Amino acid sequence: MDKLIIQGGFPLNGEIRISGAKNATLPIFCAGLLAESPMRFSNVPHLRDVNTMLLLLAHMGMQVAVDESMNVTLDASKIHNPLAPYEMVKTMRASILVLGPLLARFGKARVSLPGGCAIGSRPVNLHIKGLQAMGAEIHIEHGYIEATAKRLKGARIFMDMVTVTGTENLMMAAALADGITVLENAAREPEVVDLAECLIKMGAKITGAGTDVITIEGVERLQGCDYSIVCDRIETGTYLAAAAMTGGRVKLNNTRADLLEAVIDKLREAGAKISHDANSITIESDGKLKAVNLRTAPHPAFPTDMQAQLMAMNTVADGVAQVTETIFENRFMHVQEMRRMGAEIEVDGHAALVRGAKHLDGTTVMATDLRASAGLVLAGLVARGETIVERIYHLDRGYERIEEKLSQLGARIKRVSS
Ligand code: UD1
Repeated sequence: MDKLIIQGGFPLNGEIRISGAKNATLPIFCAGLLAESPMRFSNVPHLRDVNTMLLLLAHMGMQVAVDESMNVTLDASKIHNPLAPYEMVKTMRASILVLGPLLARFGKARVSLPGGCAIGSRPVNLHIKGLQAMGAEIHIEHGYIEATAKRLKGARIFMDMVTVTGTENLMMAAALADGITVLENAAREPEVVDLAECLIKMGAKITGAGTDVITIEGVERLQGCDYSIVCDRIETGTYLAAAAMTGGRVKLNNTRADLLEAVIDKLREAGAKISHDANSITIESDGKLKAVNLRTAPHPAFPTDMQAQLMAMNTVADGVAQVTETIFENRFMHVQEMRRMGAEIEVDGHAALVRGAKHLDGTTVMATDLRASAGLVLAGLVARGETIVERIYHLDRGYERIEEKLSQLGARIKRVSS
C-alpha cells in the first residue's frame, strides 16, 4: 500500500491546474447510458473512482475508449447487462447513479444496495421513493434493488432531505420519462448543474438546475454530445486551504471562484487574501490565521467535503473554532489522528471545538475516508518534522496526482510504495 511522506514547514508558491470534478464526472458518465449515439468527454480527472465507474459501465456492455489525455468516449448501443454488482458498489457508493438511467432507458436495473460507509449510514431511500413515484416497480431482494418499469411517468417529487446523487438519479430518469417531472427540495450543487447542462446538450428539457425546484419535461430519446466536465471545487478548496496554512502565494488555474464562495469567505475571514478572474483563483497568506467557526450544509452553504481541511486549518489558527457537521453523522474520523499530531479538539455529537495549537508535530497517521485524508495531508504540511499518511488509496479516489501538484508548489512530499 502506498503512503505519503511529508516534511512540514515549507511555504507553497507557484501555479497548478485544477482537474475536472470527480462528483460531476461520475453522474455524467452514467448519463452516457441514456444516449443513443456515442458521447465524448474532456477535462476528465484521472482518479480511482472514475476508473471504477468506467469498469462498472463496461461490465454492463458500455463500449469505453480512453486516450492518453483522459478524453473518454462512451457508446451505450450494446448494453446487455443492466447490473451493478455488490463488489463494485461497495467500493464506490456513487455506483447507485446507474439506477435511474438504466431504468429509464432499458426498463430494468439490478443494483446492489450500497450499505453504510465510514462517514455514516447513507441510505438511498429517496432515490427509490422518487423512482416509485414515477411508476417503477421496485423490490429489495437479497441485498439488491430490483427495478422494472415500462416507461417512467413524470411526477411531482418532494425530497424530504437534500440529496445530491438522489437529485441526479431522478433528473436522469425523468429526462426520458413520459411527461413532466418536478423535483422539489432538489440539491443545488454545481455538479447537479453540470449534469443538467450535459443532459440539455444531449437533448433533454430541463429548467431550474441550481435552484431547489428542477423541472424536467421528458423526451423520447437523447443523443450523444461532446462535453467538458466542470472544475473540481473541492480540489480547489483543498489547495486554497493548504496555501492559507503554509503561507505563500498560489495561483490555481482552470477553476472558478463562484463555485465555492462559502469556502473562500471562510478563508478570507481567517486572514488569507484571495482574488480571482473568470478561470483562476490566487491566494496569498502569511500563514498566520484566525480561527473560524463553520457549519456544513447543502450548497450554497459550506460543503461537508471541505470540513476536514478547514478543521486542519483551525488546529493551527489563533483562537477557538466551533466546527458543526450537519450532513453526515460520523464525519469526524480525522479528529483522533489530528489529536495524535498535537491538535486540541473536543467532539460533542455533531460539533467539534478546535483550540488553535502553537504547532503540530509530525507522526504516522491514517484516515478512513477521502476528505479526512486530505485534512491529514494539510496538517502534515505545517507540522514540525515528518508526517507519514498511510492508506492513501482513499486520496487516490478523489485527488489527481496530489503529491505532484503539491511538490510543484514547493511542498516536500513524496509517495512511497510498501
Ligand atoms: C454527494 C457527494 C459527496 C458529498 C455529499 C454531500 C457525489 C458522488 N458524492 O454524496 O461527496 O459529501 O453529496 O454533499 O456526488 N440521504 C437520505 N436518503 C437518501 C439519500 C441521502 O437520508 O436517499 C441523506 C444522507 O444519509 C446524508 C444526506 O442525505 O445524510 C445527504 O446525502 P447525499 O447528498 O445524498 O450524499 P451523496 O449524494 O451520497
